[in-house]
Amino acid sequence: MNTAVQNPSASASSLANDLSQISSANKAFLARKHQLLVDGAWVAAASGKTFEVRDPSSDAVVTHCAEGDAVDADRAVAAARRAFEQGEWATMKPVDRERLLHRLADLLEQHADELAELEAIDNGKSVVMARYVDIKHAIDVWRYMAGWPTKLEGKTLPISGNLVPGQEYAAFSTREPIGVVAAIIAWNFPLLLATWKSAPALAAGCTVVLKPAEETPLTAIRLGELITEAGFPKGVFNVVTGAGPSAGAALAAHPGVDKVTFTGSTEVGRLIVKASAGNMKKVTVELGGKSPVIVLDDADVEAAIAGAAGAIFFNQGQVCCAGSRLLVAQRHFDQVVEGVAGAAKSMKMGPGLDTTAQMGPLVSSIQRERVSRYLQEGLADGARAPVGGKALKTAGYYVEPTVFTHVNDKMSIVREEIFGPVVVAQPFDDIADIARLANDSIYGLGASIWTRDVGKAFRLASKIRAGSVWVNCHTVLDPSMPFGGYKQSGWGRELGGEAVYSYLESKSLCINITG
Ligand code: NAI
Ligand code: MG
Repeated sequence: MNTAVQNPSASASSLANDLSQISSANKAFLARKHQLLVDGAWVAAASGKTFEVRDPSSDAVVTHCAEGDAVDADRAVAAARRAFEQGEWATMKPVDRERLLHRLADLLEQHADELAELEAIDNGKSVVMARYVDIKHAIDVWRYMAGWPTKLEGKTLPISGNLVPGQEYAAFSTREPIGVVAAIIAWNFPLLLATWKSAPALAAGCTVVLKPAEETPLTAIRLGELITEAGFPKGVFNVVTGAGPSAGAALAAHPGVDKVTFTGSTEVGRLIVKASAGNMKKVTVELGGKSPVIVLDDADVEAAIAGAAGAIFFNQGQVCCAGSRLLVAQRHFDQVVEGVAGAAKSMKMGPGLDTTAQMGPLVSSIQRERVSRYLQEGLADGARAPVGGKALKTAGYYVEPTVFTHVNDKMSIVREEIFGPVVVAQPFDDIADIARLANDSIYGLGASIWTRDVGKAFRLASKIRAGSVWVNCHTVLDPSMPFGGYKQSGWGRELGGEAVYSYLESKSLCINITG
């Protein structure tokens, strides 16, 4: 098999980050032992335990974090409850919440390069992508959400009140924060996902306990430090690093949590939903995907090839809305497959801190194993890989960017979320059948349509059961554009006004004004 590994630049040593080159701020940060942020103070886990944080490019341990569990989750929830009910936050004017959110955005911007460097070391992603996608977008989201506290309006309701004769009423609806929010997030976009949850929750006036993924706790800790520096009152934002089945599960089941918001696997999403039922928490879950990239017969083929390659290889394919199914009109199939395979072959593999690298390691050895299993299964099932097909034998968790052809709808590589740089390509003949093919998945997160015909794009978009449909682009995200899933891709939406309203209760207020 012809692969990018044959690229001489991908020798083992150049595949590991050179940590001697990082900023002195991050050298000092990694040298510290990291604690939990509870009630405005940094504290060790009650158990005293810690866990290792590894650099995915080399498997080297770069720092240690406190391993919070149910006891720490409980303390953090109690702090968040106090801050919600009694503290300065509870009576803070909307304009002052706005000011705090802006101050935080300014601090994130001041430290943007350091934050990007931390993501590259912690997650393995390109420092350039981290700076200009993850961190830039996170700052934009904090600023967008800063605009909301002063705009959470209710309504004057024209009630007739005619169930009780002779009485007159005035009625209003108001919006109030839901309360204590537990945010449990994945590792693929650490600061960005922390932001998607925390920014609208804080804009709404809620308080937050954030549990980052155990693979990538570092920017959540930095976010906690910067939130403290920005002047948020103690207990408004708490960070509990630790494992999913202990700290995460405790938060999802905690009776003191009013809402749980989660990003991760559909499997754990189901556990979250079940755990939330005890006290009927409000729930937002953003889960897996198997999003189609649909290239119609009238598409600009070169643009579609570049778009399809970006849709699957961006962030090493560890993107919930990655374009992992490539559906191509028969007459362009060979050209598109060749183009995407060519893009895969030319990608330079390298660690996140190498600004010229285009394909980094996956986040963990577990993720490399998971993706490798799919690669082996695909080949055993009879699929062909014109490019890629295996993991590298390096200390870092690298997997070759892979294109599969000769696939069918029964194969696990076609049906299941792989969450790696792996795309399955299928030709189609009949445009009338394309919506059915695109929707033939338990997921419904995203889809892209590549065409020059705006009428076709509109007609097809309306038939696609997915929360985001992009035309002649893929994974375009914006603070104003709600994002989330149909079917087993989730409940609720992130971003936009919809996200803010998901952290608010609606209250009807009825006043008897009979004279
Ligand atoms: P995961 O769903 O296990 O982890 C996500 C978060 O949930 C982490 O913070 C984890 O600590 C927490 N968690 C795990 N078990 C929990 C529990 N019982 N109760 C409460 N919280 C819990 O995802 P994982 O294992 O890292 O990845 C597995 C697969 O999930 C990936 O291969 C991918 O297919 C999918 N995934 C999808 C993501 C998306 O953006 N939609 C993000 C990450 C993973
Ligand atoms: Mg898991």
